[in-house]
Amino acid sequence: MAIRFEDIKPKVGSRVVWDDRDDLFTPEAAEAIRKKVQERTVVIFPRLNLTDEEQLLITDLMGGKVKLTGQFNRQKTDENVYQVTLDKDVNPQPEYVLGTYFYHMDGMPIELPPPFATLLSARKVAQKGGQTEFASTYAGFEGLPEEERKALEELTVIHSVKASMIPIQDAIPEEDYERVIGIQRERERPLVFTHADGRKSMLLGTTADRVVGMSIPESRALLIRLVEWCAQPDYSLRHDWEEGDFVIWENTSALHRAIPYDFESGRMMHRTSIAGTEMVDA
Ligand SMILES: [Fe+2]
Repeated sequence: MAIRFEDIKPKVGSRVVWDDRDDLFTPEAAEAIRKKVQERTVVIFPRLNLTDEEQLLITDLMGGKVKLTGQFNRQKTDENVYQVTLDKDVNPQPEYVLGTYFYHMDGMPIELPPPFATLLSARKVAQKGGQTEFASTYAGFEGLPEEERKALEELTVIHSVKASMIPIQDAIPEEDYERVIGIQRERERPLVFTHADGRKSMLLGTTADRVVGMSIPESRALLIRLVEWCAQPDYSLRHDWEEGDFVIWENTSALHRAIPYDFESGRMMHRTSIAGTEMVDA
């Protein structure tokens, strides 16, 4: 095998090792990487220094790409590469980036299958903050007592854009409030997602507003407790970015969040997304 993987922590994360960089851009490598992402949730390529063309090639080799929120940016790249940044020249609507300071999964309220994976290249890192933390909801689910797992499998959850903005709502300027908070987009998803291989993860994070048929206080207490459970050190991982690092994570089993960084930090990440193949509707 031209590329190899090393475990980072027992239950989450792998690092990729390669001899020849060209070996990463083959259908065989894409298949091996896809499997490893499904097995280990987060896969890290240290200092790979991808171009956008190379990132799109890996994205396409691993599955169909999907465009999520690129429409908010004054794009300076290919329209399929979203620039995650607080740089006001690129991003006139920073709320959606500020919302990523809290554990979430991408694309949960949209009318598409939840994206299979998110791919992120570090083009410029922040001097302070800006690390990304991942929490495996496979590991979290598998670590729960059987009785609790069974009870959770019965539940469905309403995911909404509005819920994901609640942590930052008091920081949104009045003139932007309705545009940001007023988005009426909701989607009902099962709390427990059974993947094609039979493995089960939980669909959680800031978009998860409430459990259907449960009171609001009880719902939110449960949803927050489950996120905290998945974020315990054995199930989670912090990646301290170096310029050129490339990370792929399985979006439906990895809660992720950025450690806060400054508007002036210049932090710039290039993101692509791989479409999901299952609608995962309740
Ligand atoms: Fe995200």
